[in-house]
Amino acid sequence: MARLLTSLVVLSVHCAATLAFSVSSSPSQTVNGIGASGAWWPNDVYQFPDSVREQVAELLFGQSGAGLTSYRYNIGAGGSGVSNPTRAPQTFYVSPGQYNWSADAAGVYFLQKAAQANVPQLTAFINSAPPAMTSNGRACGGNLVDGQIQAFAQYITDVIAHFRDEGIHFTHVSPMNEPDDTFGSCGQEGMQVTPQQRANVVNTLRTTLDNAGLQSVGIMADESSSTGNFLPEASQWLPQVRKGALAAVSHHQYGFNNDATVAQLGSTGRSLSGVDTWFTEICCFTAASSSQKSNPAAALTYGAAYEPTMVGALQLGQLVYQSFTQAQDAHFDFWTALSNEIGCSPLNNPSCVTTANTNGWNDGLIYYDSSFASNRNTAVYQTKRLFLMKHLAQFIWLGSTRFGVSGLPSNVVGMAFKSSSSQSTPIGSARASLILMNMGTSATSVTPSQAGLGNFAGGAVTSSSTDWQTFGASSSVSLPGLSITTLLFN
Ligand SMILES: *[C@@H]1O[C@H](CO)[C@@H](O)[C@H](O)[C@H]1NC(C)=O
Repeated sequence: MARLLTSLVVLSVHCAATLAFSVSSSPSQTVNGIGASGAWWPNDVYQFPDSVREQVAELLFGQSGAGLTSYRYNIGAGGSGVSNPTRAPQTFYVSPGQYNWSADAAGVYFLQKAAQANVPQLTAFINSAPPAMTSNGRACGGNLVDGQIQAFAQYITDVIAHFRDEGIHFTHVSPMNEPDDTFGSCGQEGMQVTPQQRANVVNTLRTTLDNAGLQSVGIMADESSSTGNFLPEASQWLPQVRKGALAAVSHHQYGFNNDATVAQLGSTGRSLSGVDTWFTEICCFTAASSSQKSNPAAALTYGAAYEPTMVGALQLGQLVYQSFTQAQDAHFDFWTALSNEIGCSPLNNPSCVTTANTNGWNDGLIYYDSSFASNRNTAVYQTKRLFLMKHLAQFIWLGSTRFGVSGLPSNVVGMAFKSSSSQSTPIGSARASLILMNMGTSATSVTPSQAGLGNFAGGAVTSSSTDWQTFGASSSVSLPGLSITTLLFN
């Protein structure tokens, strides 16, 4: 009995010690934006009633919604050859120097909404050059023609200058997307841009932008699909980029690689370019092992799954955490903000939109009915991923600095951010945030004062039972199982 009592005492001391956490005093990277893209859903959602279009804009860009701080507008190439009409955006291009500014009313509508909401980072991105500049005369399956690089750069510049004249100021431009791939299956626009062409595209575009008075528009490249593309190719093009021509090295992470490889991507990108790395696209993740599909911390892979619950939100959270702590990216974008890949029919089974299935895809923050044209269902369905993005966008302020967090309860990962100025938030003013993701199914508590981030002012939580709930200050905060909680400090 005495021996048992002794071991219990030891155990409780051990538990108390493991619950103390700390925020590092060494600053990591500066973070500058959280967003998603406007491919290709505007082509559908533009056909919805005006009230729904307004609702979607508010959910993405408004302060009652996610308040995204980055939006990526897709400059379409007209979709020649593309089999899926939703993924065939109209093009402004008519012929060299001739443009049809009435084209792509759908995409431009949501771009204007983002600009009106003062989304601070607007990127224009390109999947394919106009067919006149590709090797096969289509918007998919070909290569960018060497002799057209100058015309391609001038076309992009003319589009950006047009929007500037309309009062829409792009902060960034991305002239190629996953350039290893010709996108020969033609399910979407795309073109190959060889590693030998990439620096030429960036350098030429820098000159045409500068000549048009668009020095403030930063160029990002090369939107590599994965570390498996980026790592062997980076040394073939980044050293040929003119100093000052590139604002960021943009990448995707469809290889779902391990931490060490992702860290190597970040350090390689920065050391070869001298600029930040940005994570600019991810979707379509599912647990690598189907037995792990309800585990938010499971190893992930590319594949079909519609996971609108906290599990899907925390799986994306896992990728964000890896991007910020391993690649040390300065920016994070999800892929398409909206998707119709629900994998079920909401009119036949209303509860299916909040239930995981393996027919749909994790490629939206908000979903809509793929049969809207025939069944007139223009409702939109929010996932818990939208609320993960709301934590990130509202509490990782532009220009804030990340600090590592260690010693958290098991299954909890955390990231701290400090701003040099006071920020207004739904909870009040704050200078620091601590975003905590509980990947476990049981609740656990933290003591906010241990963060050493200032006076605890309260926060917001997203869990299975609430999309978004704010709370005030207290000495201890319970983190529900499968939750995202942000603590704010002033
Ligand atoms: C401009 O684009 C609109 C929308 O696609 C189209 O209806 C119109 O015919 C185009 N005009 C020209 C001159 O190509």
